[in-house]
Amino acid sequence: MNIQFLERGFFQRVFGIPATPKPQAPDGWTYADGKLTIDLKKAKELKKPGGALRFEGGNLPERVLVVFGKDKKYRAYQNRCTHIGHRRLDPVPGTGTVQCCSISKSTYDADGNNIYGPAPGPVATYPVELKGNQLTLTLS
Ligand code: FES
Repeated sequence: MNIQFLERGFFQRVFGIPATPKPQAPDGWTYADGKLTIDLKKAKELKKPGGALRFEGGNLPERVLVVFGKDKKYRAYQNRCTHIGHRRLDPVPGTGTVQCCSISKSTYDADGNNIYGPAPGPVATYPVELKGNQLTLTLS
């Protein structure tokens, strides 16, 4: 696979600043009983193919990246590169991959397998279920 890199500035890479935003509406998601539930009416970034959001903080036990692919499938990843810096991930448009926001750019395929860079292993992915405007991720 030909690896492509997300265009990011040097300092963005050094400081590990991800390109993917957090949801604008803080009340657009909840976490309970191992499930992250997202109201897509309030998470408009996840309605257009190629969109992504990162979920973190609150009572979430781990950071989560959700990507709506060009194939109109939702995919969810633990948002923690497996390389030692454990930085966040971003989707690389048009490739189906996600990539660490750090200098080393570890890259993972759509299934979370590490395919480039120093990451020693895959990132966890989570089952996703769509019902109407509600997206539910099972984290545990
Ligand atoms: S933390 Fe991701 S490549 Fe180093």
